[in-house]
Amino acid sequence: MRIAPSILAADLADLAGALAVCEAGGADLVHVDVMDGRFVPNLTFGVPVLAALDRRTDLPLDLHLMVEDPGRLLDEYLAAGADRVAVHWEATVHLDRELSRIRDAGAAAGVALNPATPVEVLRDALGALDFVLLMSVNPGFAGQRFLPYAVEKAERLRRLADEHRARSGGGRIEIEMDGGIGRGNIARLAAAGVDTAVAGSSVFGADDPAAEISRLRSAAGARQA
Ligand code: DX5
Ligand code: ZN
Repeated sequence: MRIAPSILAADLADLAGALAVCEAGGADLVHVDVMDGRFVPNLTFGVPVLAALDRRTDLPLDLHLMVEDPGRLLDEYLAAGADRVAVHWEATVHLDRELSRIRDAGAAAGVALNPATPVEVLRDALGALDFVLLMSVNPGFAGQRFLPYAVEKAERLRRLADEHRARSGGGRIEIEMDGGIGRGNIARLAAAGVDTAVAGSSVFGADDPAAEISRLRSAAGARQA
């Protein structure tokens, strides 16, 4: 299981410290939650903040765009150093076009789904994306409770993606899950086919946040994507 700490849950006055925790703990990615105050009520990291993070770390930046009409911001965030970008299905009218733009910029293209959005809406887009970000909380805030029905969605998506791969011969689609993940539920997610776990409060709320990253990975089991 790959671990992507979400810096939304860190001390926002010390983002360099948050990156240092990710590096010391052996995080695989740094998850950056961009919120526009419209798609979700909260307002967070702008393009200059992403560029500053990119200057401070070699870890890949995993951008989660919780914004309306993400196409209007994509180019700037990609140029600022995003390595992976997920746009929300619920916020994107021309999904195929935006995914192509992400891939053309050399980044991994992802689609995020709200908890109530069925994974089947992605059936025809699977060839255009590299990963799916399944929300296991309603987006907007760190520290919410995990919604258990997300586990079954991961299982269904794994089947859908594997069938698609068998038919089309494309690459493996990665499943990332986001929201309310900690040592108590991460093994269930690994068993359901989740490859990457986002962890905000469970990492940055721990007594030793860097150590918590490896504890999460151990709790997930040895299974590798
Ligand atoms: C929620 C964000 C998450 C959040 C996760 O809208 O997308 O990435 O930071 O935080 P926890 O792990 O505390 O739920
Ligand atoms: Zn997120």
